[in-house]
Amino acid sequence: MYKAILADKDTWWVGVNDYETDLFESLWPLPQGVAYNAYLVLGSTAAAAIDTVKGPYLDEYINKLTEALGGRTLNYLVVNHMEPDHAGLISQLRAKWPGLKFIGNAKTVPMLKGYHGIEENIIAMKDGDTLDLGGHVLRFATVPMLHWPESMVTFDTTTGVLFSNDSFGGFGAHEGGIFDDQKNPARWEDEMLRYYACIVAKYSNIVQAALKKLGGLPITKIFPSHGTLFREDVKKVISLYDKWSKFEGEKGAVVVYGSMYGNTRRMAEAVCTGLAEAGVKDIRLYDASRTDPSYILRDIWKFRAFALLSCTYNTQLYPSMEAICSKLLNRMPKNKLVGVAGSYSWSKGALTALQDYAAKSKLEVVGPAVEVYASPTDEDLKQCCELGVNLGEALA
Ligand code: FEO
Repeated sequence: MYKAILADKDTWWVGVNDYETDLFESLWPLPQGVAYNAYLVLGSTAAAAIDTVKGPYLDEYINKLTEALGGRTLNYLVVNHMEPDHAGLISQLRAKWPGLKFIGNAKTVPMLKGYHGIEENIIAMKDGDTLDLGGHVLRFATVPMLHWPESMVTFDTTTGVLFSNDSFGGFGAHEGGIFDDQKNPARWEDEMLRYYACIVAKYSNIVQAALKKLGGLPITKIFPSHGTLFREDVKKVISLYDKWSKFEGEKGAVVVYGSMYGNTRRMAEAVCTGLAEAGVKDIRLYDASRTDPSYILRDIWKFRAFALLSCTYNTQLYPSMEAICSKLLNRMPKNKLVGVAGSYSWSKGALTALQDYAAKSKLEVVGPAVEVYASPTDEDLKQCCELGVNLGEALA
């Protein structure tokens, strides 16, 4: 996106695409890149930027911002979030516009000092406080932990645009259009859910509280800090967030395995066979060593059942399965069915560790819990198939 885009009345998108960062937060792969959406609202008496972008994109961001300002000065920077993918250029904006005032909240104040050495010209807003730009009145609401403690959203009471910060964001750079009505939903929904599962999911209960808090606002459009801008079907995107944060999975199952020589993989395939026999059509089979965890988390969030199978490695879980269990325990998905199975050669360990995970997860566990010595026999595979059937029937 090479220029500023008029996104709504007096409201400009001045964001950037990032195709160079391989891993978001140095953790999550970005095969389709990522967009940092930043905005400018031009009131008749004042101009306010809403967030900046990541540091390396200084020139592109300043060029777009300057173009959109059309010769006017920048009066305010609304800091919805201090994470450096949005706050990366705060110091540079202050250098360019020395009179710039920073709009945040009580928790933004120490972060502005800590990250940028800024202690002056800060206005700390409380929930419901407003800023009049002349023809555009911005109203602020804190949404702590979505995704940092200081996170807030900004609502333009004139246009009905909610600048929603990380909430409603998604991975993936803009490819041509920036709006939902310019894109095939199939292109953004999966990446939005992967973003949710990786970045937001841990705070799902807070998402529910935030949806209630913002529910009274007459929101007509949602402009997040990453990914697609929603102006055509705001209800759809709110209902997706409602569904994901309430852990309402679709009828389907994810089968994840860790296997060194294919024996545990054969067990996982037998679980899939059982699922299919029970009539489950959406089945995702993943090798935990070869599929990035972000895709596995995404699909565990998408569907209502999952199975974890691991070989034993040094008396414990296979490392790639250990990583999956750890990430699941960090996020604690609810309302799902889980089945487990393990294999071993000279000493057991994997099944016990998976059962330990299942107990900690507080999810409904579906049996049988299958344990296989060495290579699975026909009887072992039948048991794995039975696990799949039981999971599938429990989904019905
Ligand atoms: Fe996109 Fe939490 O920063």
